[in-house]
Amino acid sequence: MKSEQRVKISGTGGYLPARRVTNDDLAAELDTSHDWIVSHTGICARHIMAADESPCDMAERAARVALERAGVAAADLGYIIVATTTQDYSGFPSTACLLQGRLGATQAGALDISAACTGFVYSLEVARGLMHCDRGARPTLVVGVEAMSRIVDWKDRNTCVLFGDGAGAAVLELTSEAGRGILASYLRAEGSNPDTLYCGGGLRTQPPVTEARLAHMNGRVVFGFAVKAMAEVVLHFLETLQLSPEQVSFVVPHQANIRILQAAQKRLPIAPEKFFMNIAEVANTSAASIPLALAELDRSGRLRAGDLVITTGFGAGLTYGGNAILW
Ligand code: ACO
Repeated sequence: MKSEQRVKISGTGGYLPARRVTNDDLAAELDTSHDWIVSHTGICARHIMAADESPCDMAERAARVALERAGVAAADLGYIIVATTTQDYSGFPSTACLLQGRLGATQAGALDISAACTGFVYSLEVARGLMHCDRGARPTLVVGVEAMSRIVDWKDRNTCVLFGDGAGAAVLELTSEAGRGILASYLRAEGSNPDTLYCGGGLRTQPPVTEARLAHMNGRVVFGFAVKAMAEVVLHFLETLQLSPEQVSFVVPHQANIRILQAAQKRLPIAPEKFFMNIAEVANTSAASIPLALAELDRSGRLRAGDLVITTGFGAGLTYGGNAILW
């Protein structure tokens, strides 16, 4: 690898399951309403995986689109990284290995990354590190995929209305082009209060496992943490990369809740219209959220080569972080 090379995103892809569930559909089964959900979260609909679909199926659909857009053959991939907390198998094998087999990526190493909704942000940086130190010329496939519908308690209106399923993918390649590629990433964790946002089940002994594998959340604590964390990420890049707010073309935030995004936006000197939002249609798809948004923004034709895109996200762990990318 030459020292001036950077890692660029050369293709993106997204996949949403066909079944679209509206707020009114949920209100038919649950003590909630379209007005409550939209006013508290900005969500109008979510897409839910079919009974015979798996996370790897969704990952494969998004990955094939990203590979085609990048013009990269699966057989040429050096690594496949999958960010997910809802794997096909509980524990092992990794979803990345399943995807490697599906795609016939015979030269690729494969691993999953568990950082919840920040998983894609973390994965881009892991991919960048791997590409700078090994298999230099080979492209890497990074996928965020999540089947949240399989771990939410559909009787708990506090959580189930928030989430959706989906997958987003990006192909990364080394480039010597001036003004393109990932400039920096910012990864942080605050693991001292795991109960703020967690999925039950597992193997821990203290406290002993008594619950089913379902998501639990202290919504107000998460809200406060998220606003602070998402703003901190963007401010970090403005400061350390010495960027003016005008130089930022788009902020692509984790689509958790429109009110979190608006509150974070108010703490930042960046114009509101630069924040990309698709939460109304996709809801919170956890690790798939940022790559799905990037793929939609890419497909919209609003991105130009060299545009500065900042991702910012937070998730269970708690984790948070972002990437500064010259598109
Ligand atoms: N429909 C109707 N009423 C509801 C619903 C619902 N779907 N959910 C909760 N309520 C009720 C509550 O029971 C409560 O009723 P009560 O006052 O009688 O007890 C009332 O609404 C108000 O509850 P609050 O907690 O005050 O509502 P709040 O305005 O804080 O909104 C929310 C709740 C949307 C969960 C908010 O706290 C939030 O957005 N938190 C962050 C959620 C999030 O994005 N988490 C991230 C998920 S994972 C990730 O992305 C990393």
